[in-house]
Amino acid sequence: MPTDLAPGAASIAAAGIGTASIAAPDIAAAGLASAAQARLDALWARGTTFLGCKLAIMGGAMSWVSERHLVSAISNAGGFGVIACGAMGPDQLAAEIAATRAMSDRPFGVNLITMHPALNDLVRVCLEAKVGHIVLAGGIPPGAAVRAVKDGGAKLIAFAPALVLARRLVRSGADAIVIEGSEAGGHIGPVSLNVLAQEILPALRDVPVFVAGGLGRGEAILAYLEMGAAGAQLGTRFAASAESIAHPEFKRAFVRAAARDALPSVQLDPRFPVIPVRGLVNAGTERFLLLQADVVRRFQAGEVTKDAAQLEIEHFWAGALRRAVIDGDIETGSVMAGQSVGMVDAVQPVDAILAELVGQMVAALAARG
Ligand SMILES: Cc1cc2nc3c(=O)[nH]c(=O)nc-3n(C[C@H](O)[C@H](O)[C@H](O)COP(=O)(O)O)c2cc1C
Repeated sequence: MPTDLAPGAASIAAAGIGTASIAAPDIAAAGLASAAQARLDALWARGTTFLGCKLAIMGGAMSWVSERHLVSAISNAGGFGVIACGAMGPDQLAAEIAATRAMSDRPFGVNLITMHPALNDLVRVCLEAKVGHIVLAGGIPPGAAVRAVKDGGAKLIAFAPALVLARRLVRSGADAIVIEGSEAGGHIGPVSLNVLAQEILPALRDVPVFVAGGLGRGEAILAYLEMGAAGAQLGTRFAASAESIAHPEFKRAFVRAAARDALPSVQLDPRFPVIPVRGLVNAGTERFLLLQADVVRRFQAGEVTKDAAQLEIEHFWAGALRRAVIDGDIETGSVMAGQSVGMVDAVQPVDAILAELVGQMVAALAARG
């Protein structure tokens, strides 16, 4: 299938509309599919216009995973790829942007973590490279970074974990909002997408809102579009794609896993907070519990200070995502994955994933007649 066609349109083309040989029921089916495709195009027009691509499906930035190969594959297939800056420094980020542009002439974005010590330099790098969309993740973005993005002419995308924060972000300059439910892979908030969508989609119409977390099928994305979402963001399904540079063991773990295997990290003692991260349960997650128990015991015995104890807990996962994604250590590494992992049945090329999602949306619309 040509990658520059919307998959639904391609399937209509493949149905051979306009050729004398097709039978009447085929023509009727093709007509329905064509009308359904037009309906979908209208439903997510706000998202596609905002992103500047054919499909309002963003590849959620994933540290170590969302680099040039995956990002360019998503954008080349009509979606919107997003580079995960993660812990990269400004020079590394500049090189990654240039390399991605060498692999795709389509729009893509860059995701920056707000607590990165060089945040302002990273924003400058994006602006100098004329990146059109900057995603600021990991908390409320600082005013200086927001102003720099806006003054530099890029569009600002921010995450909102509640309606009141979404409104505040829009007032301070966010051009679009992502609402990410607790079903998602990686760092998560406490509220499911199901609830966030009901709270935020009907109430926030000023800017496009993209939904994320636990999405694996087109019908679900369609339902959120019909509630007012402008588009969707998926991570887990793309992490297991053929173009993802994740280690084959990492992808195999995704194919094997069920939704119930992707659980949030557990905090043992409220005095020592643990930021919830959803990933596949493994020996590492069990060791993390034992470590917390041991640290709490030593703190209570007066052997370590509270700060030292907290630091020990925080350091447990340092480098663990890289170990899982790049080295394939799925036993002690951090195998971040959303509950959508249950819908990863095979390692598929990105254009096939997008074609499947759009095909499911179009089929659901066409089935209504
Ligand atoms: C392996 C992995 C790493 C991630 N890293 C980041 C990150 O660095 N920054 C970020 O904003 N979100 C990160 N996320 C969240 C994704 O961008 C996306 O919002 C999420 O995966 C959507 O939920 P889904 O996995 O159910 O599709 C990560 C997710 C995964 C699975």
